[in-house]
Amino acid sequence: MVADTPEARLGTLQQVREDARVCTRCDLYRNATQTVFGEGESGARALFVGEQPGDQEDVAGRPFVGPAGRLFDKILEEVGIDRTKTYVTNAVKHFKFEPRGKRRIHSKPNAGEIRACRWWLDRELALIRPNIAVALGATAVRALVGKSMAITKVRGSIMESIEGVPVLITVHPSFLLRIPDEADRRRERERFAADMHKVKTLMKE
Ligand code: URA
Repeated sequence: MVADTPEARLGTLQQVREDARVCTRCDLYRNATQTVFGEGESGARALFVGEQPGDQEDVAGRPFVGPAGRLFDKILEEVGIDRTKTYVTNAVKHFKFEPRGKRRIHSKPNAGEIRACRWWLDRELALIRPNIAVALGATAVRALVGKSMAITKVRGSIMESIEGVPVLITVHPSFLLRIPDEADRRRERERFAADMHKVKTLMKE
C-alpha cells in the first residue's frame, strides 16, 4: 500500500517545481521570461510569501533577489534568521508588467491570477508544512487567507491560511523602500524587524 503522505499525493517539491516551469494556468506566462518558483529548505519552519517576481527576479529565475530582496536579506540577517533555512516564494509566480519604452513596469496581479497561482502555493504549503507562513503585503494575504484586507488594520496579527497554517501578516519590503521621509522609513523598518523577531520565535515552537 502507498503511504498517504503529502509527497505520495503531490510529488516532491522538486517535481512540483519542474511542473510549474510550464505553467499556463493564467496568461502571465506569455510575457514573462520564466516561472519563478519558491526556493529554500524543504523542511523550513518559516515560509515567506511575497507578491510576484519583479524585473530582476524574472531574469534570474529566483525570488527576492532585486532591491526588495536585498533589504529583506539584510533585515533577516540583523534579526538572526538564516534565509537559507527558510522557504521564500511568491503568491504569483510570473512577472506581470507593462512595457514602457525599454522598461518593464510592475503591475499588480489581479484576483483571478492570484487564484490560478494558488495551485502552486497550495503545494508548497502542503509539502513544507511550516510552523508559520509570513504574508509580505496585501497580495500575499489575499493568496494565503483568501480575503482582501487592509494591511494597516491587520499588520502584526496572526490569522489562519485557507488550510489552517498560522499566517503572520506584515508589510512588503518594497513598501519600506518607497517611504520618502527618513524618520518614517527608519520607524517602519524597525516595525518590520520586530515582526521578523516574532517569526524567529515562532520558527522554534
Ligand atoms: N517582490 C516580490 O513580491 N517578490 C519578489 O520575488 C521580488 C519582489
